[in-house]
Amino acid sequence: MLLTDKQLYEEGIKNVLISEDDLRAAIADCGRQISEDYEGKPLLLLSILKGAFVFLSDLCREITIPCEIGFMAAKSYFEGTSSSGEVEITYDVIQDISRYHVIIVEDIVDTGRTLSKVYDMLLDRKPLSLKVVTLLDKPDRRVVDFDADVSLFTIPDRFVIGYGLDCGEYYRNLPYIAEYKQRGE
Ligand code: IMP
Ligand code: MG
Repeated sequence: MLLTDKQLYEEGIKNVLISEDDLRAAIADCGRQISEDYEGKPLLLLSILKGAFVFLSDLCREITIPCEIGFMAAKSYFEGTSSSGEVEITYDVIQDISRYHVIIVEDIVDTGRTLSKVYDMLLDRKPLSLKVVTLLDKPDRRVVDFDADVSLFTIPDRFVIGYGLDCGEYYRNLPYIAEYKQRGE
């Protein structure tokens, strides 16, 4: 659906869950920690498109050591709540990850299914090390046993938009994280 009506668009934004200031502070801390932990190591920040692109762009600018950026895109096919399913890599990272300490930069860990599959695929390629940093974590929704190494904010089981996260491809450009308001809610 094309959402060209500004009023309808704005009605979808229910309330701000995480402000720009809170995002900035948490991301600055995270960048400092990564700069300390990976000093002197070949570092690759690997982002899974599209949701993590805003987080990645702010996080990488808080990192003060040399690092490379890589992207991947994945499509998931899952039925119902079953944890089995296929993940198709629709765009693969260019770098040979066996030469890097890799940090997967994610927007949100929800059921955990996509990331657990991608994580295993990347591990097979034998990176020097592999960690996951996620901006948001929704632990109440988990259907597979998967936890990020670092999560900046734990949120309740609500659908959120903004700061890279979308609803029907809209709202990624909001500078904060908001709760999404369903029509008629
Ligand atoms: P999962 O962890 O495999 O269930 O899927 C995670 C993906 O679903 C994330 O990378 C997001 O793209 C999307 N997703 C999960 N929860 C939300 C949400 O609240 N808002 C927007 N996208 C979400
Ligand atoms: Mg995502």
